[in-house]
Amino acid sequence: MIRASQFFPVDAPRSAAWWQRAVSTVASVAAVLIVLQGLAASAAAQTASPHRKTPLRTVAAHTVVSKPAATPASSSRWAPVTITEKNATSHAPFEAGDCSICHQNSDPANPGPVKTSGNDLCMGCHDDFKQILSRKYPHPPSQKNCLSCHNPHNSNHPKLLLEEAGTLCTSCHKSIHDTVQNAKVKHDALTNDRQCANCHNPHGANVEHLLVQLPMQLCLDCHGKDNVLDHNGKKLTNMKALLAANPNHHGPIAGDDCSACHQTHGGDNFRLLTNNYPSAFYAEWDAKNYALCFGCHDEKAFTSPETTELTQFRDGSRNLHYVHTNKNDMGRTCRACHEVHASTQDHHIRESVPYGSKGWPLKINYTKTPTGGSCSRTCHATKTYNNSSKDAAAKP
Ligand code: HEC
Ligand code: HEC
Ligand code: HEC
Ligand code: HEC
Ligand code: HEC
Ligand code: HEC
Ligand code: HEC
Ligand code: HEC
Ligand code: HEC
Repeated sequence: MIRASQFFPVDAPRSAAWWQRAVSTVASVAAVLIVLQGLAASAAAQTASPHRKTPLRTVAAHTVVSKPAATPASSSRWAPVTITEKNATSHAPFEAGDCSICHQNSDPANPGPVKTSGNDLCMGCHDDFKQILSRKYPHPPSQKNCLSCHNPHNSNHPKLLLEEAGTLCTSCHKSIHDTVQNAKVKHDALTNDRQCANCHNPHGANVEHLLVQLPMQLCLDCHGKDNVLDHNGKKLTNMKALLAANPNHHGPIAGDDCSACHQTHGGDNFRLLTNNYPSAFYAEWDAKNYALCFGCHDEKAFTSPETTELTQFRDGSRNLHYVHTNKNDMGRTCRACHEVHASTQDHHIRESVPYGSKGWPLKINYTKTPTGGSCSRTCHATKTYNNSSKDAAAKP
């Protein structure tokens, strides 16, 4: 195996021509960075993506810095490196030992400038990248310079990457760096396996945001298993199975938008939620605790004891949403009655409730009636509500 040090000791003397070329490389990289800066500015001027099917979601403006924070002043970033890591990679043409495959000279001690400048050198062999970069959403640094991310010779990281994948990406994507760094709830999807590349194609993609698949499919690929554990060792619901078994999908999910409620890159709320939602079965009433739901639903339906229009979950004018949720200590959270992803019943009413610390399934036995509905042998004996008039049908 060819090691860099064999061919180019770090302190070997370099010719004047060598340094001239090195300077011109720095100059051309600077030009690329100016172009990238322009792109970043125009992207920042855009607002939230127009394809959103659901309202009220704010997409944080993202800052992209064009210059990776860790770029050293010299072009030595691309010199062959000394291999120290076990997941190191070496480029096949470099392994072949003939530097003149890419450089003007075959002498490893003085390979001289490369034969073809820019991405054309790479495309000469990786011609499939012409197609990749002509996809609907090409990644600007890949169009400009493959060497923004790859060492052309070898690397201590997989796929000839200049740095460990996550670090490389967040060196330009500062806002994602900050999100990941500061998040109280972290998402292992970003640190497992191929890291950012689990979901993004670093070169180009046909799906918005460089995603390797349609976003919901992406989530369900990993969340389509029974053995995904959260950070407390609790088994997470197999979402793919849940959605398949429950045809009545909640609005945003019917719109294929998991991100309407979850922050993929990490966040501060329970279950990576985009806003507050209580984590337990009971919670003291405070509208702020339900900011997630009230981003799309009217909180007044939960704060008025009497109403004939704000909610259908009422008996006459007695607001049963208020009765159940609006309590000082043991207010029932929405999960007591609703399954927020998908259900078989109307109004996203769940079949059973995970009750107590063991999550024992307590049947709700909800039945829809022509004038309302009823629940039987559950948290209480059978009770029926009538929302067809201003008068109560059965006293709860
Ligand atoms: C697959 C193509 C390719 C092969 C093969 C290759 N190089 Fe390079 N090399 C490059 C590119 C691209 C650059 C960086 C661009 C530039 O400097 O213009 C580079 C730059 C270098 C640099 C300069 C880093 C600096 O400080 O400026 C050294 C040293 C180097 N190569 C050594 C070698 C040696 C030794 C071999 C043969 C064992 C070799 N290269 C084979 C593509 C290649
Ligand atoms: C002379 C042909 C040739 C040139 C020029 C060339 N490559 Fe490659 N490259 C290969 C071959 C062969 C492989 C290994 C086979 C494969 O995985 O397709 C490879 C693999 C790679 C890999 C994957 C490495 C891995 O561990 O899986 C990367 C990344 C890569 N090349 C980047 C580049 C970049 C960037 C350039 C331009 C600086 C470049 N290549 C120029 C032939 C070339
Ligand atoms: C923004 C950073 C970035 C740029 C710029 C970039 N790549 Fe990559 N490249 C990556 C990452 C990250 C991977 C590993 C992807 C993965 O794990 O699936 C990769 C993987 C590859 C592979 C291996 C693919 C495979 O399936 O194993 C090749 C070949 C490659 N890149 C070539 C190129 C070429 C050619 C260019 C320029 C046209 C380029 N890259 C520009 C980040 C980049
Ligand atoms: C689990 C899948 C997944 C992983 C892993 C992931 N992302 Fe994303 N990313 C997404 C999705 C989905 C979007 C689309 C916007 C949204 O729905 O939040 C996105 C959007 C983006 C955007 C554009 C919108 C914005 O918020 O600025 C950038 C930039 C980005 N991701 C960078 C990264 C980086 C860097 C990493 C690695 C540290 C990464 N992503 C890891 C799924 C992922
Ligand atoms: C050299 C700087 C640089 C590096 C390194 C880099 N990017 Fe980018 N990236 C950009 C620029 C510039 C844009 C275009 C501006 C924009 O759309 O935000 C961009 C755009 C994106 C987008 C689309 C953003 C959107 O709003 O749709 C995603 C996703 C993304 N990059 C992910 C990654 C991932 C993943 C990596 C690591 C493999 C990475 N980037 C590495 C500079 C970089
Ligand atoms: C590459 C695999 C992968 C992908 C893709 C993925 N996840 Fe995850 N996700 C995990 C793993 C592993 C865990 C468990 C460890 C953890 O909590 O991070 C997890 C945990 C979660 C959790 C629970 C977090 C907690 O600790 O409370 C939520 C919510 C979640 N993912 C939502 C999503 C959404 C939404 C998407 C799509 C945008 C998605 N995931 C895509 C692997 C993935
Ligand atoms: C309308 C908002 C909303 C949407 C859209 C949404 N989720 Fe959730 N998700 C939640 C809430 C709320 C919880 C917490 C549920 C609970 O603990 O009662 C949750 C919990 C989760 C969990 C943890 C499950 C567990 O067993 O504790 C995963 C995984 C998850 N969601 C994945 C997804 C995926 C994948 C999608 C897209 C198919 C998605 N979510 C769409 C609101 C949503
Ligand atoms: C991103 C917007 C959004 C968020 C956030 C959201 N919903 Fe919804 N919700 C909808 C849409 C759109 C509908 C109408 C389509 C449907 O029936 O699913 C709906 C319908 C419902 C329904 C059924 C109404 C009926 O009478 O059939 C219930 C129950 C519900 N949501 C509960 C919740 C709960 C509980 C939360 C918080 C955990 C929540 N929603 C968060 C958008 C949202
Ligand atoms: C005690 C059970 C229960 C709890 C707790 C509960 N709901 Fe409901 N909810 C219902 C029932 C039953 C309906 C169906 C009413 C009808 O149309 O007959 C309903 C209907 C809805 C609707 C449809 C519009 C309406 O009000 O008629 C939305 C939206 C909704 N609930 C959201 C929520 C949110 C958000 C929470 C938590 C803050 C919550 N629910 C808590 C039982 C409950």
